[in-house]
Amino acid sequence: MPTRKIAILSGKGGVGKTTLTSNLSYVLANMLEQKTLAVDANFSTPDLSLHSGIYFTKFNIVDVLKNSIKVEKAIVPTHLNFDLLPGSLTLSSLTSFDRIKNVLSELTGSYDFILLDCPAGLGREVKNVINSVNEAIVVTNPDLPSIVNALKSLKLCRDFGVEIDCVVVNRIKSSKYELARRKVSEMLDFEKIFFVPEDKNVPKSITNKLPVVKINPFSPASREFIKIGYDLAGLEYRIKSSVFDKILSYFKF
Ligand SMILES: Nc1ncnc2c1ncn2[C@@H]1O[C@H](COP(=O)(O)OP(=O)(O)OP(=O)(O)O)[C@@H](O)[C@H]1O
Ligand SMILES: [Mg+2]
Repeated sequence: MPTRKIAILSGKGGVGKTTLTSNLSYVLANMLEQKTLAVDANFSTPDLSLHSGIYFTKFNIVDVLKNSIKVEKAIVPTHLNFDLLPGSLTLSSLTSFDRIKNVLSELTGSYDFILLDCPAGLGREVKNVINSVNEAIVVTNPDLPSIVNALKSLKLCRDFGVEIDCVVVNRIKSSKYELARRKVSEMLDFEKIFFVPEDKNVPKSITNKLPVVKINPFSPASREFIKIGYDLAGLEYRIKSSVFDKILSYFKF
């Protein structure tokens, strides 16, 4: 099977990369029946496994990059129906990330989608990931520093010849202190932008170690995450929630 390898990056930290990675992995695996692997490519400060409630694994991506084990040995199936290549929760002495490209090519054909949760910044770690994928999603928030870093991320992807699937502007609060949608769209100057609202169900779901799309698929952020997943698969998502679902979603948690 052809494998789509997608890096999820932002430049600026804390904008929602890991949240998006775990939710998109869930949508692709469960709603679209795509064989999906989520990779914690945040080599120094990983937390993707924590979002999925997976703490202790025998091996992790650092063991693989150090060439001490084969990648298949470090991949764990999750109760969320997608596979996970976890990061190292202890401080690692890894200095070279070059092997990530070889590791990903070894997995070509085994998955429909491989999503890579990048670290913040646009340094060596991220460049090695970008050099190993064919597609990317840029995540940002509606504030000037995040948008400036998103623009740098877009440039980096273009320099590496990586196709950009979409830009995700996360945590829209519609407050007077954030950049308006129109301004954000103007600055990003990119054809496909998704706007994900600020949603209290997101931090609650992380505390529950589950993607919000699983716990509350009709919450405002979930609807957008699902829409993005469908779009990646080339499909249009039509909301089918009943009035009862909407009421339930309001009272959930
Ligand atoms: N749509 C949202 N609504 C409310 N809170 C959100 C939303 N998206 C993300 N968050 C919160 O933002 C915080 C940062 O999210 P996340 O860890 O996914 O960012 P990150 O870009 O991966 O960060 P880092 O750069 O440190 O890896 C989390 O505490 C999460 O709960
Ligand atoms: Mg993260």
